Amino acid sequence: MVLCLVAGLEPEEEVTDVVCDEAKLKDGEMMEVEVGDHNVLLVRCDGVYSAISNQCTHYGAPLSKGVLSGHRVRCPWHGSCFNVKTGDLEEYPGIDCLPCHKENSESKMLTIFSVQIQGQPKRIKWMGARDQAVLHTVMLLGGGAASLMCAETLRQENYGGRIIMVSRDDLLPYDKTRLSKIMNAESESLLMRKIEFFHKYDIEVWLKKEALSIDTNKKTVTFDDGLIQCYDQILIATGCRAKSLDCPGVDLENVLMLETPEDMLEERGVRFYMNDAVAEVQGQNRRVKAVKLKSGITIEADLLIAGIGVNPNSEFLKGSPIRMDSKNYVIVDKYMRTNITDVYCAGDLTSFPLKMAKGQNVSIGHWQTAQAHGRIAALNMLRREVELNIVPFYWTVLLGRTIRYAGYGEGYTEMVLKGRFENMKFLALYLKDDEVVAAAGLNVEPAVSVVAERLAEGRVITKAEADVYTTWLQLE
Ligand SMILES: Cc1cc2nc3c(=O)[nH]c(=O)nc-3n(C[C@H](O)[C@H](O)[C@H](O)COP(=O)(O)OP(=O)(O)OC[C@H]3O[C@@H](n4cnc5c(N)ncnc54)[C@H](O)[C@@H]3O)c2cc1C
Ligand SMILES: *[C@@H]1O[C@H](CO)[C@@H](O)[C@H](O)[C@H]1NC(C)=O
Ligand SMILES: *[C@@H]1O[C@H](CO)[C@@H](O)[C@H](O)[C@H]1NC(C)=O
Ligand code: FES
Repeated sequence: MVLCLVAGLEPEEEVTDVVCDEAKLKDGEMMEVEVGDHNVLLVRCDGVYSAISNQCTHYGAPLSKGVLSGHRVRCPWHGSCFNVKTGDLEEYPGIDCLPCHKENSESKMLTIFSVQIQGQPKRIKWMGARDQAVLHTVMLLGGGAASLMCAETLRQENYGGRIIMVSRDDLLPYDKTRLSKIMNAESESLLMRKIEFFHKYDIEVWLKKEALSIDTNKKTVTFDDGLIQCYDQILIATGCRAKSLDCPGVDLENVLMLETPEDMLEERGVRFYMNDAVAEVQGQNRRVKAVKLKSGITIEADLLIAGIGVNPNSEFLKGSPIRMDSKNYVIVDKYMRTNITDVYCAGDLTSFPLKMAKGQNVSIGHWQTAQAHGRIAALNMLRREVELNIVPFYWTVLLGRTIRYAGYGEGYTEMVLKGRFENMKFLALYLKDDEVVAAAGLNVEPAVSVVAERLAEGRVITKAEADVYTTWLQLE
C-alpha cells in the first residue's frame, strides 16, 4: 500500500489517504492521485516513491499528462520542468517551484508537505538577502523576462550586492506572452511579481527611464532624465520592438502594433493573404477604413493590427565597443558574455550560439529562451561558468487553440506530418540531415514536450523514428 499524507500550513489541514496499490505504479512511471482535495503527482523512480503537486506552477497544467524522464517531469503545455524529488523548477517558462515534500521510503509511506503560498500551489525558490557590506552593483537594463530571471537567480545564488533593474516601461515586469491571448487583460493581473516581492528581495526597479548610452570604460549608463549611474556588471536585456509598417496611412488612430498591454484585441475569423504586402492604409476621419495590398486587393477594415517582425532595441549601444551583428543584435558567447568584460546580454536582443543547432549563432524571440538567458548570465556574473544549453520552446494561440513548437527548425529539409492540419490535430516533425531538429503540434499533447525532452537529453531522433508512429511520441 502507498500512503500519502498532505499537510497544509495549518495542522488541521493534514490529510492522509491510501492512494494506490504498490503494484499499480511501475518503476519509471507516474500517476495522478487525490489526497484529500489535493491533486498529487506520485512518481516511482529507482524503486523510490516521491510526490509533488500535480499542478504546473506556470498555467496549471496537469503534470501527470506530461513527460517523465529520470527525476524530472516536463509539462505537456509549455515545457516547464520540475525535479520530482524536490519540486524545484529546472526549466522555464514557469518561474516557481512546486510545494516541497518529504518521503519516507523505509516504511513505504509517503509524506507530502503541501505548502500553500498565498492560496496558490507554488513555492518561490529560496533567495538570499542584500548585504549592505557588499559594495558591488549589478545593473539590469530592461524590465522583461531576461532581466527578471537574472535578478532572481542572483538572489537565489546568494548574491548580496545591489541589483538595479531599469526599464522604460511604466509597468513592473509582466507576462508578455499573455498579451496576444487574452482579451482586455488588466495590467495588474499580468505582473510576473508584485511590488512587495521586489521590496522583500531588495531588487530596485526604476521605471520610465530610458538608457541613452553606455560608457563601458567608465562603467556608466546615461538615462533620458540626465541621470548617470555606475555599475560593476551589467546585463543588457532591452529586447526588440515591433517593426512599424512603412507605407502611407500608418499614422491613423486605429492602427495598432501588437506589443504592449494596451494592444488588446478580439479574435475573429482569420484569413491569410500570402505572398502579398500592404501598399497603403486607407482612412476616413482619421480612422482606418481599408487596407490596400500590393496585389491590388482591398480589404475593408475597422481596425488594423500590425505584427510584422521586430527590430532590436540596441540603438543606444551605437558608439560603444559592444560587438553586434549586421542586424544590430548583440553577439554573445555560450556564457551570455559580450566581447566587453562585465557586459552581458540576454533575451531577444542577442545573437547567441545554440548548442542543439551545432553552436550556430541564432536570434530567437521566445519567452522561455529569454528567461534561460537571464539565468545563465546571472550564474556567469557570479563566475559559475555554466553554459547555455536549452531547447527553445514556443507557443502561440490561434483561434483559441494552442500551437506548440520546440527545437530549432531553421533550414529544415524535410517535414514528417502526423495527423492532419484540417482536423486541427497534427504533429509536424522538422528534419535536417536526417535528424529531427524541431516539432510543432496542435492538440497532440504531450508530443511536443516529448520531442523537447529528447532533444534536451542530447538524444538524436532519427528519420526512421520520425517516420513510424511509435509509442515514444505518446500519440494515440
Ligand atoms: C504580443 C506578444 C506575444 C508574445 N507571445 C509569446 C508566446 O506566446 N510565447 C513565447 O515564447 N514568446 C512570446 N512572445 C515573445 C516574448 O515576449 C519575448 O521573447 C520576451 O519578452 C523577450 O524577453 P526580453 O527580456 O529579451 O525582452 P522584453 O521582454 O522585450 O523586455 C525588454 C525590456 O527593455 C525595456 N527597454 C527597451 N529599451 C530600453 C532602453 N533603452 N532603456 C531602458 N529600458 C529599455 C523595455 O521597456 C522592456 O521592459 C510574445 C511577444 C509579444 C510582443
Ligand atoms: C569588441 O568588438 C568590437 C566590434 O567588433 C570591436 O571594435 C572591439 O575592439 C571589441 N573589443 C574587445 C575588447 O574585444
Ligand atoms: C558565432 O559568432 C562568433 C562571434 O562572432 C564567431 O566567432 C563564431 O565563429 C560564430 N559561430 C558560428 C558557428 O558561426
Ligand atoms: S502550464 Fe506548464 S509550462 Fe505552462
